[in-house]
Amino acid sequence: MSMAVTFDGAPEQGTINFSVGQPSADLLPLALLRGASERFFASAQPLELNYGERQGDPRFRAALAAFLSEKGGSPGSTQSLMLTAGISQALDFVCSRFTRPGDTVFVEEPSYPYSFQIFRDHGLKIVDIPLDGNGMDMEQCERKLAEHRPKLLYTIPAYNNPTGQTLSRERRERLVALSRKHGFIIAADEVYQLLHHGTPPPASFGTMAGHGNVLSLGSFSKILAPGLRLGWIQTNAELMGILTASGVLVSGGNFNHFTSHVVRQLIENGELAPFVAHLRSSYAARAEAMDTALHTHLDGIATWQKPQGGYFFWLKLPADTDAEGLQAAARATGTGFLSGTACSTAGGLKNHLRLSFAHYKVPDIHDGIGRLGRALRAAQGKAFA
Ligand SMILES: Cc1ncc(COP(=O)(O)O)c(C=O)c1O
Repeated sequence: MSMAVTFDGAPEQGTINFSVGQPSADLLPLALLRGASERFFASAQPLELNYGERQGDPRFRAALAAFLSEKGGSPGSTQSLMLTAGISQALDFVCSRFTRPGDTVFVEEPSYPYSFQIFRDHGLKIVDIPLDGNGMDMEQCERKLAEHRPKLLYTIPAYNNPTGQTLSRERRERLVALSRKHGFIIAADEVYQLLHHGTPPPASFGTMAGHGNVLSLGSFSKILAPGLRLGWIQTNAELMGILTASGVLVSGGNFNHFTSHVVRQLIENGELAPFVAHLRSSYAARAEAMDTALHTHLDGIATWQKPQGGYFFWLKLPADTDAEGLQAAARATGTGFLSGTACSTAGGLKNHLRLSFAHYKVPDIHDGIGRLGRALRAAQGKAFA
């Protein structure tokens, strides 16, 4: 008997729940990975199943460096890259290598909710820096640097989760200069860097790894499949030395050696770039559909900016609205969203909500936003009174 595949946060049957920030089944590349696995096993040598190098298989890193130079505007060298088990694991690892409980981390407000939990796991004090529509507000950042001495600054510079905002090249350079001046490390979560819907974002922080205390964190979760648990860190020799001196790596080798063999087949075979191009156009069409549907069903109720990449719309409701209080109404019409407060370290942003367009095809997006519109209009009398 085959059982239905499930996952944490899966939508209830029959609902169209826009809180799910994971790809839909049709965008998960089963056939590509099957082919890559078969090619790997057809030519593999037994020693490939040993631990391998701490930094990750050098052939993989060479293939990734070439891919990033071409596609990500990030001329990485094999030595500047280490493999990870994805950005979540990399963030945890970075905290363990560079921080001690009681240290301070700067994060954007709003930001990726699960990152907060990782920072709290390490006993870090979180200080938030607001976004101003163009990414991190640099004036505020400098003001807070006068008051705090952070060890880490966590940013999602391209298509921030949840707002979709992107940091300009000028601000990136300013941030790198500040990292040198104040001695903190930039942990740039570039998970959506390659998922632009039109014009690409500024070059990744990986391109500036030689200019300051920069860790550029990348992942295959959004450009291939989250279940692979494979990602990378791009950085300079000094920070790489601290990362690779970790006891976990000395003992166990790199975090996800075997998967990297399979994914390398796919990169070397030239299959990754067209797949990412396919994802870009699929997500661009979904974002377009969501924007259109929102105009049809939520004009006058919410305001938003259409994102230029990534997975999310960030909606603003009237100031006195508590989005969390609208969840029940949304559930009643068979839809859902992530409340803005989840994306705030201090429990703010109550009148915001995040919608992901990654998990549904265009017709479902129209249907789901229609349901959301009905829910919010039904609640409007009470909630917006
Ligand atoms: C901003 C951000 N960072 C990290 C992750 C998770 O990355 P990974 O699957 O590589 O751990 C996500 C997934 O939603 C994300 O949105």
